[in-house]
Amino acid sequence: MKIVRTVEELTALRKENSFNGKRLGFVPTMGALHEGHASLVRRSVAENDCTIVSVFVNPRQFNDPNDYKNYPITTDADIALLESVGCNVLYLPSADDIYNGYEGCTMDFHGLDKMYEGEFRPGHFQGVVDIVYRLFDLVKPDFAYFGEKDFQQVAIIKLMVKQKNLPLTIVPCPIVREENGLARSSRNRLLTAEQLKVAPLIYKTITETCATIPESETIENLIETLRQKIDSIEFMKMEYAAFCNAETLERLEKFDRKIATRLCIAVWCGNIRLIDNISCTIK
Ligand code: PAF
Repeated sequence: MKIVRTVEELTALRKENSFNGKRLGFVPTMGALHEGHASLVRRSVAENDCTIVSVFVNPRQFNDPNDYKNYPITTDADIALLESVGCNVLYLPSADDIYNGYEGCTMDFHGLDKMYEGEFRPGHFQGVVDIVYRLFDLVKPDFAYFGEKDFQQVAIIKLMVKQKNLPLTIVPCPIVREENGLARSSRNRLLTAEQLKVAPLIYKTITETCATIPESETIENLIETLRQKIDSIEFMKMEYAAFCNAETLERLEKFDRKIATRLCIAVWCGNIRLIDNISCTIK
């Protein structure tokens, strides 16, 4: 696996003849890689001639300075994991180099940056599109792979690609879970042993409460039920839960079995914020 660190090196690599006519897959990450990332890279390796992975903890997308400060950095382990799954190129930029002379990406979020995650993490999605647009411009992939744990992020990046008319396809990939149901996340490693024991209850609670929903059920009731169940678990405090149209991400006011519905949730477990989402069956 080749490791490049600067825009110059990446651009030079991109211009090399070896890339011509080849199908290029890209997996942008913030490192602290786990099985969820590994599944994205494996898929890219299987579907493309060459796979580039970026590891960059993007300061612009952290609305909470403590979250940024505590974000795990595990570069050696990341390199070992990427080697083991067949990544061809690792791009490890620095903030100064990648943002040098680059203002950011202006787009119309259609209000999506202010809802759900955006309501509680102001500026987060602007930071995400800033870096993703820049990375797409430098890497110029044919396919880019994103995990559906960040369901709203995937929708916003698809919108950005459409608005900017970028010549690439976004490939959303299913959430990877621990055997106990906990969605894999780089933040899981910040949980204490005690918190790790209860963290799988988020998935258990949302699947039990939302797997099959009678159409006559009200959304307010179900969100209140979720809040009571989650808040009764040690260390846990639900920040929000929302039922949305899985295609448009529009917030649903009532259940409708004809609309593909997704529940998105954020829960504080101690001072670690965890997110999850599931598809709901309305009957
Ligand atoms: O999902 C992430 O890890 C980040 O938001 C991304 C897409 C790598 C941008 O920094």
